[in-house]
Amino acid sequence: MKTKILKILKQQEEHISGQQISDYLGVSRTTVWKVIKELREEGYEINSATNKGYLLTKSPDIITSDEIKSVLKTKCFGTKIFAYSEVTSTNKLAKEKASQGAQEGTLVIAEAQTAGRGRLGKAWESPYGSGIWMSLILRPLVLPQDVSGITLIAGLAICQAIRELTHLQAYIKWPNDVVINGKKVCGILTEMSAEMEQVNHVVVGIGINVNIKDIPEALKEVATSLSIEGEKEYVRKDIIAQVLMCFERHYKAYIQEGSLKPILDQYKALCITLQNQVKVINKDGT
Ligand code: BTN
Repeated sequence: MKTKILKILKQQEEHISGQQISDYLGVSRTTVWKVIKELREEGYEINSATNKGYLLTKSPDIITSDEIKSVLKTKCFGTKIFAYSEVTSTNKLAKEKASQGAQEGTLVIAEAQTAGRGRLGKAWESPYGSGIWMSLILRPLVLPQDVSGITLIAGLAICQAIRELTHLQAYIKWPNDVVINGKKVCGILTEMSAEMEQVNHVVVGIGINVNIKDIPEALKEVATSLSIEGEKEYVRKDIIAQVLMCFERHYKAYIQEGSLKPILDQYKALCITLQNQVKVINKDGT
């Protein structure tokens, strides 16, 4: 009922009376009143005027399936969303769901992770309500060795989405970090289940530091957030929707074309690693 009432409120530009809502949904006015109270407790600002009814004036930056879907313009990515307040790791959960048969495009997202994971076994700080911690399940018809291309595509999509919405100078640090002013703002952890010649599923885990104010002391030299760089707060669901839209477009082209050719020029234009000397660090050394 809460979802339905919220949807009605979001569609209105003028006040709508409690009676109209209750008639439309076939519920009592007390139910409508209770739901409005709950929504206000969750942080929705709802103006109420005598004889006019209710008007939603502000929505909180909370991550729910409904909030994301209200701004999503994709065909497949995010058609099914599992949104949680707290999980160990969205990648871990997404892998479980994928092995139970979850469809391509399923998104697992959380306000906080208690055991967020980065590459090379590192931990990934994922504080409550201030970042985007999400994992997308894919079932690409590609060979296992071509899955790394999907990570490149994700990095490009995130970089472009950040630029579009924040106008910050985001760049890709090859292969798949996104940096602003030389500091990391996003990381990607891609994991897959595959056999010799066939991919069962891929989980693309994306962590974006959005409204984090305080970067832990040990990471201050190398990490940052969008709000630190842009000196303002950003609405996370808008960034999620934009990332998924860009990602879906590039992914479709990659699968159809069978190569990275469709995105190569865009990738190169945003990649700060080109023309620079690099140090490659992996689990075997440097
Ligand atoms: C890295 O740069 O080391 C990759 C970081 C990936 C972090 C994201 S947050 C959402 C998803 N769940 C995880 O446990 N990790 C990824």
